[in-house]
Amino acid sequence: MPSLEKVGVIGVGKMGEALVSGLLRSSKYSSSDICVYDVIPDRLSYMQSKYGVQILDSVADVVSTADVITLVVKPQDLLSVIQELNKTYLKSKIILSLAAGINTAYLSKNLQKYTEIVRCMPNLACSVGEGMICVTRAQNTSQESLDRVTKILSLTGHAVQLDEKYLDAATGLSGSGPAYVYTFIEALADAGVRLGLKRDLAFTLAAQTTLGAGKLVVETGEHPAKLKDMVVTPGGTTIEGLVELEKGGLRATVIEAVSKAAERSRQLQAAASEKTS
Ligand SMILES: NC(=O)c1ccc[n+]([C@@H]2O[C@H](COP(=O)([O-])OP(=O)(O)OC[C@H]3O[C@@H](n4cnc5c(N)ncnc54)[C@H](OP(=O)(O)O)[C@@H]3O)[C@@H](O)[C@H]2O)c1
Repeated sequence: MPSLEKVGVIGVGKMGEALVSGLLRSSKYSSSDICVYDVIPDRLSYMQSKYGVQILDSVADVVSTADVITLVVKPQDLLSVIQELNKTYLKSKIILSLAAGINTAYLSKNLQKYTEIVRCMPNLACSVGEGMICVTRAQNTSQESLDRVTKILSLTGHAVQLDEKYLDAATGLSGSGPAYVYTFIEALADAGVRLGLKRDLAFTLAAQTTLGAGKLVVETGEHPAKLKDMVVTPGGTTIEGLVELEKGGLRATVIEAVSKAAERSRQLQAAASEKTS
């Protein structure tokens, strides 16, 4: 197994860029170890000038240049990329799909036989090395390929291997999760502005509080309720705020939001399967 595998990224929109940025930040990867391809020429020029990565002209060029071929296009564009991939020789390569909702059975069915296929659900925080990445493999893909990809993805955050049946849940929770957290941060900051704080300061207070609270959960391993109780003093200020959150149904709303997002992930698979059946 080579110590550093060349990574090719097909589709350098928001998530493709986050992956490239995270790998380069890790300092294990340098720009010459990453190649990218996108249908939008401006995106390629942008990636070259910002990150110095190698830009390529086609899916076939990515396959001949990289060891791990990462598919970061929208689920509805995946099939056309698969068709291009099938015109190349995929033996000894690993295909890594980041597409929400598209399962490995679908990828195995549509890609050349014997292709090593890994699927993951990352999130945007990969760009700063703090991503949450859930990784799984196709039925006939080796554990070794899964481990190789997991090692690469670990450079962009916390990567866990899990059974594919949990990937829709992970999509709804950690894949979509940053959007929920940004909405919460924005709401906290709006509250600060309402109370007279300057907008920039309110954002700093809200974002750093969210970062610090999450870090405490991760580093202490404590139940969030225990940490919450450490902030809440009897008859104090925080309990007044918590009562309002409960009145607004925060918990039920969050649980429902994650469930709906997971359901949408399952629908994406159904739509993709319909297209190829
Ligand atoms: N954004 C996230 O937070 C996130 C998190 C987890 C997983 N994902 C997954 O990552 C994938 C990409 O999401 P995104 O948000 O990064 O989307 P995006 O910003 O739209 O990026 C996708 C890029 O791929 C390009 N593209 C389309 N067809 C292509 C083809 N045949 N060959 C090469 N490039 C092609 C797109 O161009 P056009 O705009 O012209 O189509 C676009 O530049 C999705 O499958 C999504 O489920 C995203």
